[in-house]
Amino acid sequence: MAADQSVIGPLGWSAAVCELEQKASPHPWSEAALYSCFNDDYQNWALRTSDGVLAGYIITQQVADELTIMNIAVHPDYRRRGYAGQLINWVQGMAAREGYTLWLEVRRSNTPAIALYQRTGFSEVGVRKGYYPTATGAEDALVMRWSSSSDNQCKTCL
Ligand SMILES: CC(C)(COP(=O)(O)OP(=O)(O)OC[C@H]1O[C@@H](n2cnc3c(N)ncnc32)[C@H](O)[C@@H]1OP(=O)(O)O)[C@@H](O)C(=O)NCCC(=O)NCCS
Repeated sequence: MAADQSVIGPLGWSAAVCELEQKASPHPWSEAALYSCFNDDYQNWALRTSDGVLAGYIITQQVADELTIMNIAVHPDYRRRGYAGQLINWVQGMAAREGYTLWLEVRRSNTPAIALYQRTGFSEVGVRKGYYPTATGAEDALVMRWSSSSDNQCKTCL
């Protein structure tokens, strides 16, 4: 993957976060749901391009020794450059240093995200039946887990 000058740093609340969410996700979070993740219970990180554009973000919540990836999004114009992988690797580095296990839930139909998580070493450990609403009913959530002691950790560096 070609090197670039993107930078990861803390993500503060701004309208740009809502705009990115609306552009990035087929099932975007509401502004209120996003805003509820900007307090001391969460650690949120931005990936910005060399000219300062917010290209992606990751929202995580820590409880005891578990860190949950609540959301990750990359702007459609900046996809397949490894940005989501960089954000996940960033969080994995922090989790490895602190001894946290990472958890997440993902729609069964979200094949790009599932491929990303598999590529970064997550394993499917369970299913929540009918967890997410859809236009026609509901769909399952796959529950995925990663820890630095997992056998598959060597897949993580993109
Ligand atoms: C999922 C998402 C975050 C991926 O962002 P991205 O920056 O394009 O991902 P990366 O470039 O880091 O991809 C890393 C790896 O993930 C996998 N991957 C990512 N997007 C993929 C796609 N559309 N199809 C297949 N594999 C994909 C590939 O293995 C890829 O490595 P490669 O490009 O060398 O093949 C982005 O598509 C997105 O914002 N989607 C909408 C929001 C969303 O669904 N978030 C997840 C909520 S659970």
